[in-house]
Amino acid sequence: MKIFILGSGVMGSGIGQVFAMAGHEVTLYDVREDALKKGMESIGWSLGKLASKGVNPDEVMKRISTTTNLQEAKGSSTIIEAVYEDLKVKGDALRAVSALEKDAVIGSNTSSLPITELSRYVVIPERFLGTHFFNPPVLMKLVEVIKGDLTSEETFNHTVSLMNSLGKYPLPVRKDVFGFVVNRILFRLFTSACSLLERYSPQEVDYVAMRELGMPMGLFMLLDYTGLDVNYYITKEAERRGFPFRCSVLEAMVKAGKLGRKSNLGFYDWSKGRPEITA
Ligand code: 3HC
Repeated sequence: MKIFILGSGVMGSGIGQVFAMAGHEVTLYDVREDALKKGMESIGWSLGKLASKGVNPDEVMKRISTTTNLQEAKGSSTIIEAVYEDLKVKGDALRAVSALEKDAVIGSNTSSLPITELSRYVVIPERFLGTHFFNPPVLMKLVEVIKGDLTSEETFNHTVSLMNSLGKYPLPVRKDVFGFVVNRILFRLFTSACSLLERYSPQEVDYVAMRELGMPMGLFMLLDYTGLDVNYYITKEAERRGFPFRCSVLEAMVKAGKLGRKSNLGFYDWSKGRPEITA
């Protein structure tokens, strides 16, 4: 199948890698060549790690091409939108791509925007739904498959099967509610963790989260890992929609350019790789 991925950031490139590893022909699109280069480097790094686990990096790489020409979306059977988490940016991208290939199923990797709201931008809303992967897409099994009010049963069932065929664990979400299932739970945890910052350091909270709650990463490390800009946007969106998700420190951090792992600095210093957390 021909797969077109809009956006070659951490999520877009990771999702493209997942499809290519399952044998699909993938085109990775971005507006800038340097973003595509970065996306391909990240795929190359990941495949290098997976080589010892039976993955053939060259074979997978051969199935991935890059483009800055949106017209190349023509002829795709599946299009996944993974551009910046912002209604206008996503809306513009969806409007443009859906006019080019009317037969494709289009999935959005949004974390926080209602699928029904986004579906207003696409030409055929029946063929549009949420496909919410988790970071890092190549290692995380879960994918939320979210039905908007206008998504057809056929599109929904087809996409659940497609995710199964990728070796993923699709979680069918039939109610298009804020945060779907995972972020609705996760952002309550983030809100609680952030409220502890008055008395404890991020390291102290994360130590407990890992050691006592058995999380593979502490909550502040996870905020850094998924990107403080993305998480700030989600908390703002939550506030706008009346949800009690808060993390007041995020605004100042993002404005100071501290975006977490992607900028090497957030709650932690990532310049030497994943930070160690000790008691
Ligand atoms: N591709 C291939 N290999 C990778 C990789 C990738 N993308 N990322 C990490 N690895 C490798 C590491 O290099 C390491 O390999 P090595 O042993 O050869 O050095 C191995 O995987 C294990 O990694 P780590 O040593 O860093 O440690 P972990 O065992 O903790 O595994 C993890 C890493 C899978 C990322 C784990 O920490 C984890 O599950 N963290 C939580 C992730 C999570 O919750 N994601 C969801 C976030 S929420 C979200 O995305 C939604 C959005 O809407 C906000």
